[in-house]
Amino acid sequence: MFSVVQVSDSHLSPRVPRFNANWEAAVAAVNRLSPDLVVHTGDATLDGAGSEEDIAFAARSLAALSAPIRVVPGNHDVGDGASRSQPATRDRLTQYERYFGPALWTEDQPGWRLIGLNSQAMGAGDGLGHAVADAIAEALRTLGDRRMAVFLHKPALIEALEEGDVGYWAVPPAARGPLAALLTHPALRLVASGHLHVARLSALGPATLAWCPATAFLVGEKLLPNAMGGVRQLGLMRHVFRDDSVETEILPIPEADAVEIDPFVDEIYPADPS
Ligand SMILES: [Fe+2]
Ligand SMILES: [Fe+2]
Repeated sequence: MFSVVQVSDSHLSPRVPRFNANWEAAVAAVNRLSPDLVVHTGDATLDGAGSEEDIAFAARSLAALSAPIRVVPGNHDVGDGASRSQPATRDRLTQYERYFGPALWTEDQPGWRLIGLNSQAMGAGDGLGHAVADAIAEALRTLGDRRMAVFLHKPALIEALEEGDVGYWAVPPAARGPLAALLTHPALRLVASGHLHVARLSALGPATLAWCPATAFLVGEKLLPNAMGGVRQLGLMRHVFRDDSVETEILPIPEADAVEIDPFVDEIYPADPS
């Protein structure tokens, strides 16, 4: 048995420090849980895709965690697929990896393989999408008889692999191809994501789809009219890995300020929905 605490969407910056105190509250909560590993599922930075200062600050802030940590990139860290305003590019990814380590990783624990994926590269140019497909193929080729857990920023899907495009909120169906082999694999037990800033647990065959809430802020009804079955709250997740299953619970962050970003989003993210 081992435990992983998942945190997400801390949106840290020395320039716009509005959410940094909530991160300090999250660090205290995580350290009290003393997990074997922490996984941060992206948007560690307020705007690392545009500011190296934010990346350096967020990397220093994550170092306050006592446990070993793995990080996957979010749209605010490395850009978003082939988006026109802030696409995921090789330069942005290289800068991210200098501070946070590889955006694609596997971490083996007894009986388990944890796989970190770069959801922002799916559908991106620069050969970035191919790197994700290659990493998935390699992780499956050498899986053996381990069970699997996948961590990525954007939800791989909202309800079903066959669903249509849900826009900004999940991996676009056209880019979902390489994920299919993972999501339909009989050894898969957990797909853990962030990005939506809501908490939800649902099932995909024998796997749990775990949407980790943010540490930074809530997204209200103006920006996210449909919470897609999720609960608007701040928090973190603890995943306890047993022989053939993962127990996941959503935990609050005592002392975090559950501020909603809608009224002041234009100050923080001009012309950006999150
Ligand atoms: Fe976020
Ligand atoms: Fe995001």
